[in-house]
Amino acid sequence: MIEAISSRAPGFRPRVAVLLGSGLGSFVDEMKVLAAIPYAELPGFPRPTVRGHEGRLVLGHLGSTPVAVLQGRAHYYEFGRADEMRVPIETMAELGCETLVQTNAAGSLRLDMPPGSLMVITDHINFTGINPLFGLGANRRFVDMVDAYDPALARRLLAAAKAANIRCHDGVYIWFCGPSFETPAEIRAAVTLGADAVGMSTAPETILARHAGLKVAAVSVMTNFAAGLVPGVIGHDQTIAVANASSSQLRLLLRRFLESYG
Ligand code: HPA
Repeated sequence: MIEAISSRAPGFRPRVAVLLGSGLGSFVDEMKVLAAIPYAELPGFPRPTVRGHEGRLVLGHLGSTPVAVLQGRAHYYEFGRADEMRVPIETMAELGCETLVQTNAAGSLRLDMPPGSLMVITDHINFTGINPLFGLGANRRFVDMVDAYDPALARRLLAAAKAANIRCHDGVYIWFCGPSFETPAEIRAAVTLGADAVGMSTAPETILARHAGLKVAAVSVMTNFAAGLVPGVIGHDQTIAVANASSSQLRLLLRRFLESYG
């Protein structure tokens, strides 16, 4: 696998892996691309079924930082497996990445964080009872989740946002497994538990990344107010449309963050 990837970009060693969420794949337009490999050519990589997820590994540079971009993820709700992203994430670690930067589309639990807002994730609540490490042996499965979202990287993301004049919040992400959206009662419970944003991804990938020894940073784009917070219905079309519309801010933020990754 590593040889298959390395042969497409000889001598290339990425430092940062970027995992792009729904409607956010256009980030690769910011890169100097060396190679783009469909997941279908990489054994163990998933076949995303969700519109807005390309399913390609893109290798290249942002400024002078070598990055490997996972353009599209598979979610628990697609196949009933929380470890669909295990091989891609472990492959990022084997390629030499030290950090996984994730993006996602999320529902906002805060009225001061309307659709289009960005939020750096500082912690998560796994509300599903499901774990991508189920079934793994060895003591390594008991992964420490304190500071799972690296505080120094979160601070650097917020500083990059400030420098680029991008309003950016920070807060706690709660993982619901989907694919149905949450009920208003579930969202009231999530607010009581201390969550700021809700989504159907990211938490399992963070667990997998910590298991693989990667540092994690993550940014959510609010595509809607969560169920019951304001009148109206929620749908995937809105997720894609708002994520696309807000992607320029997120692209700018990631570019600033990665160019100065150091
Ligand atoms: N809930 C769960 N996942 C989401 C939402 C939401 O409201 N919006 C975008 N992804």
